[in-house]
This record gives sequence, C-alpha cells and structure tokens, in this order.
Amino acid sequence: MSRPPRIAIYPGSFDPLTNGHVDIITRGARLFDQIVVGLLNNPEKAPLFSVEEREGIIREVFADLGNVEVDVFHGLLVDYARRRRASVIVRGLRAISDFEYEMQMALMNRRLSPDIETVFMMPAETYTYVSSRLVKEIFSLGGDVSGLVPAVVESRLRQKCTPR
Ligand code: PNS
Repeated sequence: MSRPPRIAIYPGSFDPLTNGHVDIITRGARLFDQIVVGLLNNPEKAPLFSVEEREGIIREVFADLGNVEVDVFHGLLVDYARRRRASVIVRGLRAISDFEYEMQMALMNRRLSPDIETVFMMPAETYTYVSSRLVKEIFSLGGDVSGLVPAVVESRLRQKCTPR
C-alpha cells in the first residue's frame, strides 16, 4: 500500500543561510520525502538580504538535492504548512538556550494545528554556536566567517557590505 509523501517544512528567516541551516536541511532531506525551506517574508523586519536574494542563495546551495525546495511564505506557519500538505515542521536545536523559545512555538503551533508535528533536529556540534546574527556581526566587524556559511554567502556578504 502506498502512503502519501511525507513533507516537512523547515521555516526561518535565513538572513543569511548558515552552515548550521545547511546541516539541518541535509539531515532533513534524508528523513523526509520532501523538505520545503520556508522563507518567512516579514515586512516588519529589516533584513540584510532581500527575500529574493535569500531564496536565490538557498536554491543555489541545494541545486543538487532533488527533494529540497525553497519557497517564500507570509502569515501563520501552520496555515502555510497545511497549504503545502506538510505534516512536519522541522526546527534546529543548537543549545539549551534555544529550547524555551522553540518549545513555546512548537506548543503554540500544536494548539493551532494539532495534526502538524514539530520535529527538532540537532546540527553537527561544529555548528552549535553558529547563528545568522553572529555571522553578520562578525563579518561587518572584519572577522573571518569562512567555514560558518556556504561560499556563496561569503561572497554575497563581501558584495553587500565592506567590513569596517
Ligand atoms: O529563523 P527564525 O527567525 O527563528 O524563524 C522564526 C519563524 C519564521 C519560524 C517564526 O517566526 C514563524 O513561524 N513565523 C510565522 C508566523 C507564525 O506562525 N507565528 C506564530 C508562531 S507560534
């Protein structure tokens, strides 16, 4: 008997994509039939990279992984997941400090949509301290971000901002 494909959404801001994100997406692609990287378009935030730039970067990095898709969403994550027929929301957990916020979101999403399960995945330990916010800060202050982000992100950072 064939079952429907198991689709997972990996939501986030990805401003910019880090190697921690890449690690989680790669692991997710092995677990699920399809993983949709759901890029939140949040007009209230002033991101460094536009939604189109972030989408292009993720698409380029995962060009060779057939079951990874990139898509932009706005509004409630659970509504988006339902529209995409996803049964799973994937989130990465780096450290205990992530836990409180992630648990709150997972339980709120469960309340909003009990049929969608949040699955937490741990990145490789090398990436447990990597965040988009720190990458931007380090780069803007002239620090080395190689190894923390894909090469394409590093070159886009160079095009976008000259380190102080
Ligand atoms: O990478 P981020 O910025 O930590 O991702 C946060 C994200 C996009 C997962 C979260 O802000 C979100 O789901 N936003 C969509 C709006 C929504 O559903 N809010 C209620 C969450 S309980």
